Amino acid sequence: TSGDFVPALVIGSGYGAAVAALRLGEAGVRTTILEMGRLWHDPGHDGKIFCATTNPDHRSMWFRHRTEAPLDTFLWLDVVNRPIKPYPGVLDRVHFDEMSVYVGRGVGGGSLVNGGMAVVPRRKYFQQVLPEVDADDMYRKFFPLATECLGVNDIDTDYFTDSDYYEFARVAGRQAEETGLATTFVPNVYDFDHMAREEAGTATKSALAAEVIYGNNHGKRSLDHSYLASALGTGNVTIETLHQVRDIRQNRDGSYVVTVDHIDETGEVVESKQIGCRHLFLGAGSLGTTELLLRARDTGALPDLDADVGQGWGPNGNIMAGRANNASQPTGARQSAIPVLAIDDWDNEAARVFAEIAPVPAGFETWISMYLAITENPERASFRYDPATDRAVLDWRRDQNTPSVASAKSLLDRINETQKTTYRHDLFGDDRAFADDFCYHPLGGCVLGNATDNYGRLKGYRNLYATDGALIPGSLGVNPFVTITALAERNMAKIIATDITT
Ligand code: FDA
Repeated sequence: TSGDFVPALVIGSGYGAAVAALRLGEAGVRTTILEMGRLWHDPGHDGKIFCATTNPDHRSMWFRHRTEAPLDTFLWLDVVNRPIKPYPGVLDRVHFDEMSVYVGRGVGGGSLVNGGMAVVPRRKYFQQVLPEVDADDMYRKFFPLATECLGVNDIDTDYFTDSDYYEFARVAGRQAEETGLATTFVPNVYDFDHMAREEAGTATKSALAAEVIYGNNHGKRSLDHSYLASALGTGNVTIETLHQVRDIRQNRDGSYVVTVDHIDETGEVVESKQIGCRHLFLGAGSLGTTELLLRARDTGALPDLDADVGQGWGPNGNIMAGRANNASQPTGARQSAIPVLAIDDWDNEAARVFAEIAPVPAGFETWISMYLAITENPERASFRYDPATDRAVLDWRRDQNTPSVASAKSLLDRINETQKTTYRHDLFGDDRAFADDFCYHPLGGCVLGNATDNYGRLKGYRNLYATDGALIPGSLGVNPFVTITALAERNMAKIIATDITT
């Protein structure tokens, strides 16, 4: 229906969007969330909401004929990926020329598919990345608030020491310590009490049944169980699913109109609507928010958007690699899908690395130690609007990851030296030891203080806001969702206080 109007619209339902919706709802502002993905609450044919990682079906990926898992092959064999029926599945892999980006699709965005690792960044590095943001405010108020509202908890160290499912992490942790490297536990939004019950056999297995990238059926406090549930609880927030926003424009009176396609489960557009609003919040993630803004600027719909829209993108230095352990160091046939331990070598100025010890939950012994290394890398890329395809194109080049690979390699070479081990070359295709062509942590494109003011208000317009990972300039040193949440909390506190009258 055209002519619909709501006081506030929020595009997307990931971290930034969920914070915006909750705080608007609490302030008494009627708010509609537009989310292109599904609501993941109803069980499918097998009684499960999400499909198994080891046996993916149509629910796994966003309109694909074949899954595209991060580990491409095993022993060089094409045994990981499966043919699937196109469907609005929960994980997407967005391909650009020399970089592809994993993102979540559905009510809860990335929280549906991510590893749940909830890390507050080092204060010193945060201040370097976002120098205009008052760090005292963040570390005293907004990081604790985000951590609390997200439901972050810590693994019990006795459980960690005893669990059959964390041998992979204990082995890699010991090896790091033998190399003189520091390890640290990583907090998570996965309920560790639930995990202990899974292991005891009194709760249905989810993390302990390898569930993560295609969704967790139990145990994980994704946003639909935290911020979004609270937002709906205000009575002022509604969520429209399978609603993909295409365009944004502005009326003469300063209000905004979005064009949104309502799609069905085959991807067909069943209805195209126009919805008007006074306040418009973009929470479509680094890729989604940046694309909508670039399209609006470069087609002339919002011509006064800043030249900085599209700039300052980076993959948070993400590099994956696997080491091949000796036969005497098995990593366990049983592995929890939730990582809990990291090697913290960020103080090493020559090669800053925060390397999470990741599982390979294959269900059989692989002798692999797998790492997701977050590295420091000053390289940035930008998006350009391509009128021919009506899409945003990312100009990141593969060789921009050279510093990240070098840092990850210098750390893992040290471990290989003490352990007399080597790399695995059979996991990522092309005999490569380092996966440097995809990321999980897209950041930037609408950087705080550049494309926006210091609170996410888009330069050139009133009542138009970016509220997600697009605000963070390309690097954070740790996994990003706690920071995205805390920054959105900080910005919303200001915006509700000064821009919103009800
Ligand atoms: P986010 O991407 O969460 O949400 C954007 C939402 O907008 C999506 O639901 C999308 O469908 C929707 N959308 C996009 N365009 C739209 C349009 N045009 N119209 C309507 N809706 C639209 N981080 C971390 O801190 N710890 C971790 O352990 C991990 N692990 C991890 C694993 C995997 C597999 C992935 C893919 C990612 C992670 N991450 C992570 C990263 C983390 O999930 C990510 O940084 C956040 O989800 C980003 O939050 P945003 O609010 O920016 O957007």
